[in-house]
Amino acid sequence: MGKNIILTGDRPTGRLHLGHYVGSLKRRVELQNSGEYDEINILIADDQALTDNADNPGKIRDNIVNVVLDYLSVGIDPAKTTICVQSALPALHALTFYYLNMVTTARLSRNPTVKAEIQMRGFADEGLPAGFFVYPVSQAADITAFDATVVPVGEDQLPMLEQTREIVERFNKIYGKTLVLPKAMIPENETQRRLPGVDGKAKMSKSLGNCIYLSDTAKTVKKQVNGKMFTDPQHLQISDPGHIEGNVVFTYLDAFCTDDDFARFLPDYKNLEEMKEHYMRGGLGDGVCKKFLINVLEETLTPIRDERAKWEADIDSVYDIIQEGTARAIEKTNETLARVRKAMRIDYFEDRSIVGEWNELLRKAKQ
Ligand code: TRP
Repeated sequence: MGKNIILTGDRPTGRLHLGHYVGSLKRRVELQNSGEYDEINILIADDQALTDNADNPGKIRDNIVNVVLDYLSVGIDPAKTTICVQSALPALHALTFYYLNMVTTARLSRNPTVKAEIQMRGFADEGLPAGFFVYPVSQAADITAFDATVVPVGEDQLPMLEQTREIVERFNKIYGKTLVLPKAMIPENETQRRLPGVDGKAKMSKSLGNCIYLSDTAKTVKKQVNGKMFTDPQHLQISDPGHIEGNVVFTYLDAFCTDDDFARFLPDYKNLEEMKEHYMRGGLGDGVCKKFLINVLEETLTPIRDERAKWEADIDSVYDIIQEGTARAIEKTNETLARVRKAMRIDYFEDRSIVGEWNELLRKAKQ
């Protein structure tokens, strides 16, 4: 203990998109390469994904590879980061079962993220799977099993961290200091927190078709930007003054472009400020802005695509990477489980010391 350990994770329910990139993946790579952490772990949370996809396990099975390919293509390095699969870590299941006794159903009912998800998935009418209702407890098991000190997540995950911290505190109070108290690390700014969909809707979402995926072809990216990207509906003539607020082209430029990109692709301006001023004044058309944005996005996406192509041609190695990562994680999480069982004094079969205790108990009872 006393180490700096990161754990984070994703549900493997689909390919990752630019929203994931600016909101978390980019940060993970920076953290990985910062050298400030003793261990970095990424959990592919397939068990958690099953809590609302029990009728469609094939979807989860298929998306494990998509998610791992997304990790590897953005620069997650398996030599520095352990990538592992949740369902293959039996210690997490055992920990979850013990932690369920550290929470009340009333407390679980108050989790705002779970509440919102219950609404979104129609579980309020259809019936709520018990596994889904308790997944924050399983997430507490994920986090504590790795002795994580830092958990980089989106804002929507803050209730999970709060729940985890409560479980840790309660467990440590009852059984003695055993579990590490983790902290959330959330995105630094608004752009990272929520990259809107190309249509301007609050979030990228598969069902809305407003995503740009990391695995999209250049042609698809171009189509999404030129064909679907929301700009300023009042900006009818190029000479009209334009609005920046809510204009997705500029939101994306805020997230992705550098001064360097201007020198390379749009030398009329030194930086984004100058470009924005011109747009607001009038005289700068959406077509020019979109063309620039496509170039900017391709600066990020081309190397990701190239890296992805390499891994796609070698899926055997991808398999080995998650198998090895999972083997390491099995060891680590089993150690934590052993520590927990010891603290709870349910480690009956570690040695035979309980035989002496039982004999003593029986002897006393006869006196
Ligand atoms: N709940 C997270 C999400 O939906 C995924 C997740 C599962 C996770 N276990 C985790 C995140 C542990 C951080 C730590 O994105």
